Amino acid sequence: MSASDPQAGQGAGGPALHTSDLPLPLLSRGKVRDVYEAGPGLLLMVASDRVSAFDVVLPQPVPGKGEVLTQITAWWLSRLQGDQPHHLISVTPGEILERVPELAGTREQWERRSMLVKRTEPVLVECVVRGYITGSAWKEYRTQGTLAGETLPEGLQESQRLDPPIFSPATKAQQGEHDENITFQRTVEILGSDLAHELQRRSLAIYSAGTETAEARGIILADTKFEFGVDPHGELILIDEVLTPDSSRFWPREHYQVGRGQPSLDKQPIRDYLDGISDWNKKPPPPDLPDEVVQASRERYLEIFRRLTGTELASYVPPRFG
Ligand SMILES: Nc1ncnc2c1ncn2[C@@H]1O[C@H](COP(=O)(O)OP(=O)(O)O)[C@@H](O)[C@H]1O
Ligand SMILES: [Mg+2]
Repeated sequence: MSASDPQAGQGAGGPALHTSDLPLPLLSRGKVRDVYEAGPGLLLMVASDRVSAFDVVLPQPVPGKGEVLTQITAWWLSRLQGDQPHHLISVTPGEILERVPELAGTREQWERRSMLVKRTEPVLVECVVRGYITGSAWKEYRTQGTLAGETLPEGLQESQRLDPPIFSPATKAQQGEHDENITFQRTVEILGSDLAHELQRRSLAIYSAGTETAEARGIILADTKFEFGVDPHGELILIDEVLTPDSSRFWPREHYQVGRGQPSLDKQPIRDYLDGISDWNKKPPPPDLPDEVVQASRERYLEIFRRLTGTELASYVPPRFG
């Protein structure tokens, strides 16, 4: 902790943030992140506490969620450092302020939930890796016997392990739509063979490293999605969030049972609540969440952080990069 960072290690206590308002040019508001231009070649990615279910953003934010997503990404990237070139420059508030002094008056909005990153040209294919068959992959297999168009062995059960893990890319959906799974052949057509193979190789390598770490902590990393971008030097680098509960399915090992769907470590209280509301058709506008559901979800995010890193978020000091 440096003298310029009196707040370092004081996390997860601030008010919830639904939508940020910072004195920088706003580039986009995604489902979760508000992305700002932060000077030449730089972006500030602010992870809000917005939470979505069934691809719909819910009215109530979950306090602490944005911080958990950002700090988990930084934690993974510091572990992968050296093997995987990535976009993260800093998550340390004092360092961010040095680079982007305009942010001095709005610190409570962005600190601990924001990443200062290298701006890239994102590759327009999402790099999904599946180590277990679930979700849209299970649906496709159950009806067609394939995953991303490739035939899989017969007789697989829901949530069964896939060995080796499968690279199953998707194209990014427009707002309100679901991502669309595509074949590797289609990926080659969109991006060219060299880039498609490089994305496959890199994605499988990160997934494999991540799995090893997560398994040691009793977490099954069932599947995950990576994004890559091309930096101004033409280098392909890992971008966006990395191995978080929003971009991945984390299953607690102790509850894993093949042949059925698995409870989600993070969003289960919200899903259960929404499933219990019979007159919501899973389309906007979404219903309000009662406070106990919001609190239960917050506890889940904090628990994931604790389990993965072995540290309380409130006393966690983020890694430095550079
Ligand atoms: N280093 C980067 N350069 C450019 N764009 C990035 C970078 N890292 C992440 N992004 C983009 O920022 C957005 C993050 O916002 P998010 O709320 O996660 O959006 P989404 O709803 O599309 O998932 C994504 O569109 C992602 O592709
Ligand atoms: Mg995203």
